[in-house]
Amino acid sequence: MTLNLETIEQWVSPSIRGLASKTAGPPKDNQAIRLDKGELPYPPSPKVVDAITQAATTCNRYPAVLGGVLREKLAVYTGAFPEQLIISNGSDDLIELIIKVFVQPGQQVLLPVPTFFVYWHATQVMGGVPVFVQRTPDFGLDVDALVAKATPDTKVLYIANPNNPTANLVGRDTLIEVLNRVNCVVVVDECYFELCQTTIADLVVTYPNLIVLRSLSKSFGLAGLRIGYAIATPQVVDYLYRAAQLFPVNKVAIAAGIAALEDQAYVQANIQRILAEKPRLQKALVNLGFKVYPSDTNFLFVDTQPLNLQSDVLVKALQNQNIWVADFGSKPGLGDHYFRTAVGTPEENQGLLKGLEVAIAQSSSA
Ligand SMILES: Cc1ncc(COP(=O)(O)O)c(C=O)c1O
Repeated sequence: MTLNLETIEQWVSPSIRGLASKTAGPPKDNQAIRLDKGELPYPPSPKVVDAITQAATTCNRYPAVLGGVLREKLAVYTGAFPEQLIISNGSDDLIELIIKVFVQPGQQVLLPVPTFFVYWHATQVMGGVPVFVQRTPDFGLDVDALVAKATPDTKVLYIANPNNPTANLVGRDTLIEVLNRVNCVVVVDECYFELCQTTIADLVVTYPNLIVLRSLSKSFGLAGLRIGYAIATPQVVDYLYRAAQLFPVNKVAIAAGIAALEDQAYVQANIQRILAEKPRLQKALVNLGFKVYPSDTNFLFVDTQPLNLQSDVLVKALQNQNIWVADFGSKPGLGDHYFRTAVGTPEENQGLLKGLEVAIAQSSSA
C-alpha cells in the first residue's frame, strides 16, 4: 500500500504536530563569533582529550549501564552517595526523563517565566501542559503566584537557579518556602553551579520531592559530549533509571567526564577567566547604552530598551556580521527587547562590542 504524506501526518501525535521544526542554527565556520548558546569558549584540558582518545579504542563495547566510575567520581565531587545520582545525555535528557516519569498526558508542569525553553518543549513532547507563572520584575520567584497556580494536576515545577536567560539566583530561603508550600516534584536546575557555588543539593535528604540537576556542559566545557546528572533521593533515582535508556551516556563521554572531574585546576582556571572577563563585558555593554542584569552565570542578559531598539533587529544586524547572540524578544514572560550573550574570550567579547556599535549605528540611521 502506498500512503500519502497527509495520512502519515495524521498519525503524528497531536502534541508533536504542534511543535516548531528545528533549523540548522548558526554556521560553524572559524570566523563566526558564537555567543548564542552559553558555551565555555575554551577547549577541554589535554587530559580530557587523552582520555577521549583512549576510550575511543574500546568503543566496540557498550558503556557502563549506570555510568560506572563516573558515578563514583561524581559522588565524591558532590558529596552525595552514588545511589543518589543519575547520569544522562546532558541535563536536557533528564528534563525530559523527569516529565516521562512524573507527568501523564494532560497533567501540568509549572514554570516561572522567563526561563529555559527546554522545560516547556519537553512538557509538550510528553503531552503535558506547561503552565507559565510570571516572575517578579527583577526576575525573582513570585511564590504566592506559583502556589496559587498549582492544582492537584500539577506534577512538576522547574526552577532554573541561576535562571536562564535572566542569569539571577533566587535565595535558599525562597526555595525552601516553595518546597514547603507546593505538593509536586520540584526540580532545581543548577546547570551553572560551579560559577555561583550556590546549591540546595543537601536538601534532597529532607525533601524527597526535590531533584537537583547539574551539567558538565558549562564550567567543565563539555557541552559537545552531553553529560548531565541529577541528585535526588535513591527511590526517585531508581524510578528515573527504570525509564531511562539502557545506555544514556556514551563511553567517550564517561571517560571525558572522569578526566574532567580529576583536572579541577584546569576547570577552576577557566572559571576564573570567565569571572574576570564578565564585569569588563558588562561595563562595556552599559557604556554602549544597554541595561545589563546582574549575572551569576557565564552569560549576560541584556535589555535593549534604553536604546529604543527591538532585540530582533539588533540580533539580525549582528548576524549579518557573523556574530551570534540569542534573541529573547517576545519569549514567554518577556517583551521584545532582550538578548543573551555568553561571556566569550576577550577577543570574542571585543568583536561583539564592535559589532554592536555597527548594529546600533545602522538601526539609528534606518
Ligand atoms: C538552565 C539550563 N539547564 C539545562 C541546560 C542544558 O544543559 P545540558 O547541556 O547539560 O543539556 C541549559 C543549557 O543552556 C541551561 O541553561
